[in-house]
Amino acid sequence: MTASYDRIGVDYARFRKPDPRIAAAIHAALGQGETVLNVGAGAGSYEPLDRRVTAVEPSLAMIRQRCPSAASVVQASAEFLPFSDGAFDVSMAILTIHHWPDRERGLREMRRVTRGRIVLLTFDPASRPWLTDYLPELVTLDEKQMPVMSEYEQWLGAVHITRVLVPHDCTDGFLHAYWRRPELYLDGRRRCGISSFWAIGNAEAGLLRLKIDLETGEWERRYAKLLTQDAYDAGYRLVVVH
Ligand SMILES: C[S@@+](CC[C@H](N)C(=O)[O-])C[C@H]1O[C@@H](n2cnc3c(N)ncnc32)[C@H](O)[C@@H]1O
Repeated sequence: MTASYDRIGVDYARFRKPDPRIAAAIHAALGQGETVLNVGAGAGSYEPLDRRVTAVEPSLAMIRQRCPSAASVVQASAEFLPFSDGAFDVSMAILTIHHWPDRERGLREMRRVTRGRIVLLTFDPASRPWLTDYLPELVTLDEKQMPVMSEYEQWLGAVHITRVLVPHDCTDGFLHAYWRRPELYLDGRRRCGISSFWAIGNAEAGLLRLKIDLETGEWERRYAKLLTQDAYDAGYRLVVVH
């Protein structure tokens, strides 16, 4: 990561509104448990409102975007959680693990402070969603920053992994959220809320090819099947540790 969330996060809450369908999947995966730790909590997306949540977030820019009514937040990193062993019933980490300098340590810290389930929303770096046809540098980036799916079991013990399909009108503008609205990738303000665009740097060539393919109708011809789908397996995965 060349840019921290103190830069990326400035306009985050504007385009990164939690999607209710993904929220429902996360909350169901959390199961029972009254106290919840949310690590890499950002602006507070996906925090359940019906339980006692404690958020952990290192970036002040992200902390400042939390609603006044959001859960209390501690400025800290996953690798050094300032809580005692077994302090929480359950814990969650949503679209954040790839930013942690030491993923294994962060996950072991989550295990230490959590009595029950741990729920992670992450991305399988073996996936090749269509955007990588235009921006193959995303594959290189994800292979570098995303844990491979087998690592979760090595670090945390038995895990249950399920696909999280992205709805065609997903309200959370993460990297592959616009799979059926490809023209939105041409909007620089939206790209600013997506860390991968900061990390790959100059994406101009790929975006120009996308623009041309959209204008000529080539994109529609090439990905016609996608236009018939309401949801897409872009590679997002829910990892649940019981
Ligand atoms: C893509 S945002 C996700 C935020 C939130 N979970 C969500 O779903 O909107 C990634 C977050 O991870 C945070 N982060 C980066 N490094 C971290 C670390 N070492 N420990 C915990 N969080 C970290 C960033 O500051 C950022 O807020």
